[in-house]
Amino acid sequence: MPIAIVSALPQEQAGLLERLSAARTTRLGGRDFHAGALQGVPVVLVLSGIGKVAAAATTALLCQHFQVRGVLFTGVAGGVGAGVAVGDVVVARSLLQHDLDASPIFPRWEVPGTGRSHFDTDADAAAVLQAACAEAVPTRQAHAGLMISGDRFVSSAAESQALQRLLPDALAVDMESAAVAQVAADFSCPLAVLRSISDRADDAAHVDFPQFLAEVAAPLSCAVVQAALPGLAAAWAPLSASGRSG
Ligand code: ADE
Repeated sequence: MPIAIVSALPQEQAGLLERLSAARTTRLGGRDFHAGALQGVPVVLVLSGIGKVAAAATTALLCQHFQVRGVLFTGVAGGVGAGVAVGDVVVARSLLQHDLDASPIFPRWEVPGTGRSHFDTDADAAAVLQAACAEAVPTRQAHAGLMISGDRFVSSAAESQALQRLLPDALAVDMESAAVAQVAADFSCPLAVLRSISDRADDAAHVDFPQFLAEVAAPLSCAVVQAALPGLAAAWAPLSASGRSG
């Protein structure tokens, strides 16, 4: 059973794909799933595309067709928490869809039918990622906590401040992670999320984002994922047939 490594964009996946050995590619639902090994660990690499629907569909395919033992999402995010700066790294402890609002029928942000707005990542895997950040990118500030996702690139200080007011614990915003978390929970599949901060989700976000993506995102995420893989493989050792529902 492989570990899935998912990114939204090719620049976030590039370094890992180059290092993949014995790769076999399967095309499903318009996506290329590259199965192979990284450092001897069976993995499947895939680009989800951007946004919650794309991320959710990709996660369902990974769980159903590849029976992955865990999903690691790696990519970039906009910093919203005070002190979360461009170039920092964030390990998600929990995830929430900031644009999901079925109120007054359900509480704001709650995923109808689940009774939950927050979806936790796997605690052991989060600890592995934090240790990997300290080992692989020791000069970068690492944060751990709440990440929020929505189908919007947040690119104004006003919108970022509004999110901070509503969700003061949020460290960073992206467009996929919380959707991955919802589907991973449906399949009882453990999840880990690592994001590097490409912009501050403010009026300069549209300038900072592509520059960071081109220059920093791939090597940074590649270094941390490589440092984390042995620990993730241990944390997500294959379960017995009875250990997984879904
Ligand atoms: N991913 C990276 N930066 C982002 C932003 N500002 N808003 C949403 N997703 C992002």
